[in-house]
Amino acid sequence: MTIVPDVAPILFFDSGIGGLSVLKAVQAALPRAPIVFAADYAGLPYGTKTEDEISARVPALLGRWVERYQPRLVIIACNTACTIALSHVRAALNVPVVGTVPAIKPAAEATETGVIGLLGTAATIRQVYVDALHAAHARQFHLLRHAAPELVHAAEAKMRGEVVDPAIYAKAMAGLMDQPFGERLDVTVLGCTHFPLVEDELLVAAPHMRFVDGAAGIARRICHLTKDQSWPEKKADGIFVTTGEVSALGSLLPALFSLGITHIQSL
Ligand code: DGL
Repeated sequence: MTIVPDVAPILFFDSGIGGLSVLKAVQAALPRAPIVFAADYAGLPYGTKTEDEISARVPALLGRWVERYQPRLVIIACNTACTIALSHVRAALNVPVVGTVPAIKPAAEATETGVIGLLGTAATIRQVYVDALHAAHARQFHLLRHAAPELVHAAEAKMRGEVVDPAIYAKAMAGLMDQPFGERLDVTVLGCTHFPLVEDELLVAAPHMRFVDGAAGIARRICHLTKDQSWPEKKADGIFVTTGEVSALGSLLPALFSLGITHIQSL
């Protein structure tokens, strides 16, 4: 059995700030876990990229970060990267990799009307991975899909303290509710890790809706995978590493500090 050093971090990865929605759930479950949050700001947004671009980019970046930070495990806190490149990443890395995929199974358990919505990026909602989740967990239900790239930018702006036009949230929900069967929609999967960061605003736009995402399930999985491992006595300050300009992160610092992330680095 490999002994994992106490200080070995959990490495979170996303194209931007969206993965913080997963990090929050993991931090609540494992408060002393050392954290590295890696954001590919030079590549944001992923949702408009091709499958080939993402399959080439994500394993290469993660390979460099794993070498640098020696994490005990990697969480790909990005539905777009996972539904396209999870198997490539697992093949390329020699550490356990936990993925984030649209929470269709919990949505199927929660729906009372049999109509489920999926909000994601354009790249995510077209994946066969999503077809497979639908077939495996919600075959008997309608799954309505809508790409809402504007919510990625809204979440990035909100986390920077900027004001976002509420019409953006209403438009995203209308993209689902205006589809056939949309009037019966009762549960919506937030299938992009940026979207739970604007869940309160989406709820204002659709007050009857129940929203689900994968963060709590991932936190449970991480607790299970690390149950025989130990953590430092005192929580270390978190690290944020970006492929983009460090100077562009200024307005994000309060949100990062509130999660105990105080070191900013570039790749
Ligand atoms: N947060 C990402 C996801 O979960 C993608 C956002 C983007 O870069 O388009 O899909």
